[in-house]
Amino acid sequence: MSKRKILITSALPYANGPTHLGHLLEYIQTDIWSRYQKLRGHEAYYVCADDAHGTPIMLNAQKQGITPEQMVANVSVERQRDFADFLIEFDNYHSTHSEENKVLSELVYNRLNDGGYIKKRTISQLFDEEKGIFLPDRFVTGTCPTCDAEDQNGDSCDACGATYSPTELKKPRSVMSGATPVLRDSEHYFFDLPAFEGMLKEWLHSGSIQEEMANKLEEWFADGLQQWDISRDAPYFGFEIPGAPGKYFYVWLDAPIGYMASFKNLCDKKGLNFDEFWAPDSDAELYHFIGKDIIYFHSLFWPAMLEGAQFRKPNNVFAHGFVTVNGAKMSKSKGTFIKARTYLDHVGNPEYLRYYFAAKLNSGITDLDLNLEDFSQRVNSDLVGKVVNIASRCAGFITKKFDGKLSSTVSEPELLAQFQQAQQSIADNFEKREYSRAIREIMALADKANQYIDAQAPWVLIKQEDAQQQAHDVCSMGLNLFKILMTYLKPVLPGMTQQVESFLNTTLTWESIDTPLLSHDITKFKALMQRVDMDKVNNMVTESQESLAPAKPVIEENSPLAKEPIADEIEFDDFAKVDLRVAKIAKAEHVEGADKLLKLTLDLGGETRQVFAGIKSAYQPEDIEGKLTVMVANLKPRKMRFGMSEGMVLAAGPGGKEIYILNPDDGSKPGMRVM
Ligand code: 2FM
Ligand code: ZN
Repeated sequence: MSKRKILITSALPYANGPTHLGHLLEYIQTDIWSRYQKLRGHEAYYVCADDAHGTPIMLNAQKQGITPEQMVANVSVERQRDFADFLIEFDNYHSTHSEENKVLSELVYNRLNDGGYIKKRTISQLFDEEKGIFLPDRFVTGTCPTCDAEDQNGDSCDACGATYSPTELKKPRSVMSGATPVLRDSEHYFFDLPAFEGMLKEWLHSGSIQEEMANKLEEWFADGLQQWDISRDAPYFGFEIPGAPGKYFYVWLDAPIGYMASFKNLCDKKGLNFDEFWAPDSDAELYHFIGKDIIYFHSLFWPAMLEGAQFRKPNNVFAHGFVTVNGAKMSKSKGTFIKARTYLDHVGNPEYLRYYFAAKLNSGITDLDLNLEDFSQRVNSDLVGKVVNIASRCAGFITKKFDGKLSSTVSEPELLAQFQQAQQSIADNFEKREYSRAIREIMALADKANQYIDAQAPWVLIKQEDAQQQAHDVCSMGLNLFKILMTYLKPVLPGMTQQVESFLNTTLTWESIDTPLLSHDITKFKALMQRVDMDKVNNMVTESQESLAPAKPVIEENSPLAKEPIADEIEFDDFAKVDLRVAKIAKAEHVEGADKLLKLTLDLGGETRQVFAGIKSAYQPEDIEGKLTVMVANLKPRKMRFGMSEGMVLAAGPGGKEIYILNPDDGSKPGMRVM
């Protein structure tokens, strides 16, 4: 097999806020792939960086009374500690706020400009005169221009599903100051994405792009590609655009260039050749692992920017789904919005999570559910009960009875051959990111090894004087099978593998799968892994839980109550008029042309209702079908743009991805009255 040169990246995390389990899925997925490539002897590099720029980071730093540079540095220290503790092994971790990234961003921009791909145009935007800042869409609220619903977002209406530009809102307000924004003209710089349509279509068909991604791209092509606004006006935390004082690169322009910058930084440290990986004719491979929410940036803008700036394009972009916990979106109130550090503080061993994610990951973009019960059972049964069990049942006898030396023969060559022959299929599954399949194969082998040991019962043999050789052979055989299993698991469980390498007194390499350890000295066996303790898992959830009821009557600045104070008191009779019912979501569908709405068919136990709910930003239809929720059943039907809405589903949260439908899954039945 020839040695490949492979550059691997994960999405650059915003230097804003703590690492959580959602982040970890991606870094663990990528790390396993990178470690696998290295295990196969390829020249692979896994690079990442902090995504440091943009308005939210600038404002967050302001709120903390520190410079953005300071804030980014603080977050980076925590972030890198989290990654290291989850055994994510980057070859380099850098920052988009770095000299390398500035130089490369300017280079890319200048080349795009020279190629005629940068256009200038004056646009009118809402401006907050109190804060002296142009307002991004999500920093404006107001009254919907279509249906007059109040307090709607800057880009779309939750009530009627209309989409608009923030300048069309009636009574617009700045979320930052509450002031009425004014329209102000400003010249913006645009990247001419449509010029790359032909190339992008070709790129789409060139490799093995995920089916879901190809479908999305086809949709975007059908909608028509738009020029992309890549400039932001001061004040902005980012890089100033060359030759354009007061204009800055939009964070998403320099973020992916951060992949190159981190690699450049690595090249300078290690004497590697940057061009070998980034020149248009490069024979190195380039892969980006990303979440499904940022496909647009990576499959349209990024390849087009690279092409326009005369760099190579990625071989592939691998998107994954989101993490759900116990079947639902991670939730602060349920305690399932779990930070990396909280997991480490309570549950401890990062390899439980690495294993569980691996056991459930595949190459698609469906969400991955971390069911905490299943998590502990799976880890305990597979890793402790199956894999470690093989070693712990064999090792003691070798040390105590056979002077720590393995026997000189393979007593079951056929069984050994089965373990060795699985390597091709397991390798293919790692390569294709079908980790769950690889794990299934590995665990099926672990079952076989345990059956072999059960059948041979070395603990019985050891007591029979004339069966000593047999006992020695069986235990040695068991440990050789264990060695192969641990080699397959090495990308997933690097920490445990290290312990095993010192116990088996050898380095686990892919090549050594074919070479059993014979007449080989091993060291004393030490416990490799404790069982997951469900109490600790529960403590983790408790610590992650943020109470819904404020402990003190003070309304904190960023509390939902600050924006939406509790409404005026009502009489009991008013409340009694509202008929709340448990409803089953029989069907959930996308609504053509609506950005925020899902069409729900609700089953009230004998009666069905059609309701349009503004929850699309938080839920995929397939995630909620079959679930129970609570609805206002006697709300007068309202005619909406997309049809009649016959009721209302109760949901909570500030909006965007943080919308939670109420989910009474504790035994209630459709139609039940809610009190
Ligand atoms: O979505 C995000 O979290 C971005 N910070 C990802 C950037 S990926 C790359 F383009 F830098
Ligand atoms: Zn509306």
